Amino acid sequence: MTRIDHATLRSAETADQITRFPFPFPADTYRYSTNVEPARRFVTTAAGAWGDRIIEVDRHYRAELSERDRVLAADPTRCTVLPHMRPAAWDALLMVLGELAADHPDVMELSDEGGGRLRWRNDLLGVEQSFTVGDDDSIPGGPLRFAGTQAQEDLVLLDQREGALWADAGLVTFAADWSLAFDVGMPFLEVHGPVPRVHANGVITRAQQFLMRLGTGQEYRRTNWTMTVDRRLDTSTETYPEWGRDRRLVTAGDPGELGDRLHLRVEVQHLIRLAPSGAILFLIRTYLLSLADLATVPEWRRRFAAVLAELPDDLVDYKGLTRFRSATIRWLRS
Ligand code: HEM
Repeated sequence: MTRIDHATLRSAETADQITRFPFPFPADTYRYSTNVEPARRFVTTAAGAWGDRIIEVDRHYRAELSERDRVLAADPTRCTVLPHMRPAAWDALLMVLGELAADHPDVMELSDEGGGRLRWRNDLLGVEQSFTVGDDDSIPGGPLRFAGTQAQEDLVLLDQREGALWADAGLVTFAADWSLAFDVGMPFLEVHGPVPRVHANGVITRAQQFLMRLGTGQEYRRTNWTMTVDRRLDTSTETYPEWGRDRRLVTAGDPGELGDRLHLRVEVQHLIRLAPSGAILFLIRTYLLSLADLATVPEWRRRFAAVLAELPDDLVDYKGLTRFRSATIRWLRS
């Protein structure tokens, strides 16, 4: 009889999570910048490498898609598409399914049935779905919602008009302390209104100029980061009463628990000009790594402590780290 060694299995899974983790700090200090780079390039880290794909399917695939279903059932505003963005939502769906099929040809396929009908097969989820491109009623929940049942990424669609970008559609269930319902229909500069420093130093104006010049099919990416208590993906403004409490309580508990409860939360964000709508697709993929796992890589442990120790108070405050910054640094350096 073959015996499964669960400890080895767990550590192998955790190892994969660490080796592909997009550790976001190239230096011991961190400031906001227009940090964009071409997509699909492997980046090596102290533990491995990440970044060869746009859509990433990992061992949390089913669990995170179920969590998205749960969040949407409780709050349908997390998927909002202003009427003029319906063509862009179709472009986004075809882009997402095309990427998945190209990366996983053994288990996923997008085939042409003729007459504008396509068939999607996803063996990982046991899904087979035919649909007519452009007909919202032909696909469950409409194109953006369906994309969100097949990929772990959150999606925002930006319209370009009147010399600006507008966040006019999105499916966002895993927001890091913001609200899609509040931001939908807003111009890009206003969406970034609450972010400290970026207006005075021109980061956001430059980002908008850069994005408005993106040509069809061009693909870029950037990272962003914060910290989260436990593996909670839904930290939207709407559910603050739930997760805000954990932030207050985490340091009151056993300091030994901090390593398992506190997570570095990294977003890999892709920016892609879609055709034929001309909209910009903003994909946000959230990765969580516990301090305990992060600390298994000595360089990450040292660097994250250095970044936190040096981070100016206004950024610490905006990211919501004030209550546990010191405890985290102590834990990492102990
Ligand atoms: C090159 C492009 C971009 C740059 C440089 C950029 C920069 C930033 C920065 C520095 C933050 C603060 C993050 C933190 O410390 O947690 C932020 C937050 C945010 N960004 Fe962007 N961003 C970009 C693209 C986008 C796009 C396309 C959207 C889509 C609408 C977006 C939506 C947001 C939202 C909703 C927040 C949270 C704001 C809040 O606190 O309410 N960003 N961004």
